[in-house]
Amino acid sequence: MKRVIVQSAAGDYPVLCARGLLRNGRFLARALFEPERRYVISSPRVWRACRPRMAAALGGAAGARLILLDDREAAKTLRTVERLCRRLVRAGAGRDAVLIAVGGGVVGDVAGFVAASYLRGVRLVHVPTTLVAQVDSAIGGKTGVNLREGKNLVGAFYPPKLVLADPAVLASLPDRQYRSGLYEVVKYGVIGDAELFEYLERRLDRLLRRDAKALDWVVPRCMRAKARVVGGDEREAGPRQALNFGHTLGHALEAATGYRRFLHGEAVGWGMVAAAEVARAEGLLAPAAARRIRDLVTRVGPLPSLPEGREARILAAMRADKKARAGELRWVLPRRIGRVEIRSEVSERLVGEILTRLPEIVPRLPAGGQGRI
Ligand code: GLY
Repeated sequence: MKRVIVQSAAGDYPVLCARGLLRNGRFLARALFEPERRYVISSPRVWRACRPRMAAALGGAAGARLILLDDREAAKTLRTVERLCRRLVRAGAGRDAVLIAVGGGVVGDVAGFVAASYLRGVRLVHVPTTLVAQVDSAIGGKTGVNLREGKNLVGAFYPPKLVLADPAVLASLPDRQYRSGLYEVVKYGVIGDAELFEYLERRLDRLLRRDAKALDWVVPRCMRAKARVVGGDEREAGPRQALNFGHTLGHALEAATGYRRFLHGEAVGWGMVAAAEVARAEGLLAPAAARRIRDLVTRVGPLPSLPEGREARILAAMRADKKARAGELRWVLPRRIGRVEIRSEVSERLVGEILTRLPEIVPRLPAGGQGRI
C-alpha cells in the first residue's frame, strides 16, 4: 500500500492508495471511525458501481447511513448543499458525525463543503472513485460549489481526516469520465514532472486501456506531487497556483456553458492547449514544446467542441475567476515541459485571438465526447 502524508494546518492526514483497498473490509472498518456516526455521501450511479466494495467495509446497512445526490457539475450548487444539510439534520447527524464522500470531484467538493459548514464542521473522509478525484480533487482540502457566474466561487479549505483511493474502481468508469481524468494527469507532467510527461507520450495507449500496471504507477505519482505542492502552500498563496495550469480557460469554459457541455478535465484539456499557445506567443515556450502539449492532449481523446459566439461570456467568466486579481487574468504558463510560471499581464486581446484560433490548433478527431453530462 502507498501511503502519503499531507501536511495541513488543521492536522496532517494520510492518503492511502492500493489496488483492492476497498475490498479490505477489516482494515476499512477500523479506518472509517465509529459505525453509528458514519454518513456516506455518494451518487446513485457511483453507489451502484461501488456498493459491493463498500458494503463489506461499512458492515452493511447498520454500518452507515447513505445519502445520495446528483453528481453532475450542474448540480454542484448551494441548493444541493442546503438539501444535504437538511438530510443530515433529519438523519440526526451531530457534531461527532463523519461524512464519507464516495464519488468523483462533485461529490467530494459538495460533501467537503457540507463537512466544513454543517454544525460548523464535522469529520470528513474522501473515497475518490474517479481518476480526477484520485489524482487531484480529493487531496488538498479545496471544497465548494459553483455559481452561475463562475466555478467554485463559494467554498472553504477543509482538509479531510483520511483519503482512501483504490485504482481498481477506475475499471468501471464511463470512458469519457476516465479520459477526463487523464487530462489532469497530463497537467502534472507539464507543471513539474517531465519524466511523467515522457512516460505519457510513450505509454498513453496503455493508460487508455486502463492497464493496471500503468495506472498503479501513475496514480500514486500524481498523488505524491499533489501532496507535496499543497503541503507547502495549503491556501494557494504561491506554488499551489501551478495546479491551476489549464484552469483559467477551463473554468471559464465550464461556467460559460452552464456546466453542461464539458467534463472538468475536458475543459482543462482545452485550457492547457490555450495556455501553451499563450506561452508560445509570449516567447516563453518553444514552439516544439507547445506542439508536444497539444499533441498529448489531443491523443487523450476527442474534446467537445468549443461553444460558438461565446467569447465575451468566456472572457467575463475568466475575469470573475478567483485566479483573476484586480481585473487582470492570471495564467499559469509553461516555460518548458516540467516547469511553469504565473503571469498576470496576459492581454485579453491575445487571449481572444487564441480562443478564435483554438479549434484549428487542435486537430479534428472523430466526433464523440459530447452529449449530456
Ligand atoms: N485542483 C487544484 C488544487 O487543488 O489546487
